[in-house]
Amino acid sequence: MAKKIVSDLVVKGKTVLIRVDFNVPMKDSVITDDNRIVQALPTIKFVIEHGAKVVLFSHLGRVKTEEDKAGKSLAPIAKRLQEYLGQDVKFVPYTRGEVLENSIKALLPGEVLMFENTRFEDIDGKKESKNDPELGKYWASLGDVFVNDAFGTAHRSHASNVGIAANIDEVAAGFLLEKEIKFIGGAVDNPERPFVAILGGAKVGDKIGVIKNLLKKADKILIGGGMSYTFFKTLGYEIGTSICEDDKLELAQELLNEAAGKIVLAEDIKVTSDFSNETPVRVVPFDQIPANEMGLDIGPKTLATFNEILKDAKTVVWNGPVGVFEFSNFAGGTIGVCEALSKLENATTIIGGGDSAAAVIQNGYADKVTHISTGGGASLEYLEGKVLPGVACVDEL
Ligand code: 3PG
Repeated sequence: MAKKIVSDLVVKGKTVLIRVDFNVPMKDSVITDDNRIVQALPTIKFVIEHGAKVVLFSHLGRVKTEEDKAGKSLAPIAKRLQEYLGQDVKFVPYTRGEVLENSIKALLPGEVLMFENTRFEDIDGKKESKNDPELGKYWASLGDVFVNDAFGTAHRSHASNVGIAANIDEVAAGFLLEKEIKFIGGAVDNPERPFVAILGGAKVGDKIGVIKNLLKKADKILIGGGMSYTFFKTLGYEIGTSICEDDKLELAQELLNEAAGKIVLAEDIKVTSDFSNETPVRVVPFDQIPANEMGLDIGPKTLATFNEILKDAKTVVWNGPVGVFEFSNFAGGTIGVCEALSKLENATTIIGGGDSAAAVIQNGYADKVTHISTGGGASLEYLEGKVLPGVACVDEL
């Protein structure tokens, strides 16, 4: 069933509570990647333009003690948002209380307020992260309607998403959440075929649920990255000093059996002696990894095969780099996948969050794919086929 979207609401003159995910990477209180802020702008601008009084809130990092609060204020984020919106964003450094309540009451239509990190409520009994019913009810009392646009947090059942939703009359998805549901949900539930998944990253253990679910849905699963070596080892090949999860060998074998040919592993591998960008690199066939070397990227033959399979795809989902792309010597596979996706003209190309999203953005392919998810854990759980509480709590139309 379709979800209610922010554009289905009448917001004029109302106080609209918007849960965003502004859990952005920061170094010394300076934002190092503001993609999540940029992606939330359409929803915020829409409610401003439609005459709402806007109350924004988010978590930032994990907060267990008073000391953990250092460097986790949302104040620098409010400032960045203000620059993007070109209008004042009033920042209230509290998560409850009279100052916050009075500041919200004083808002005029079109004005924006952001309050402090919702996880500052975790110091005293994890009220936010344990979805304390009193806290959800309190935050809900601050507004008239609730818009959830925090896809990155949709796999959490916290007071600032499901808690508020349970205590307010109307709950809609923001445009970002709508987009994530359309593309990731669409790929998992009803993909246009052929549907090809590309999975990488260091560990099979992190992707078991995704592989299992996509084996049921995808036509092919191309596997690269560190997790390949667990598959090669279970098949009896020498993997040298490559990363391997020995406790997942049986599972890897089970996945291969279940896959009945759907899983495509690398044919050639870039190997070197140390986990380093400085040691000499060679390309070897997958079954000839020397005992004293490790594989850190896929080779050109593999990339050619991946390209061949991808060229007819109508839906592609990519999660996890296929090599150690932080090292220039081993970035070729991951950049090659970016390139392959950028060339597909008739396919919906979806990048699961985290490292693969970073690779696409850093290498200049962001506008050449259909959708880059803003979720890390959330996109993984969505790809696993799980119901995300932050999506489930939005009203059906
Ligand atoms: C994320 O970055 O994955 C989300 O913001 C959720 O953060 P969390 O893992 O701390 O709940």
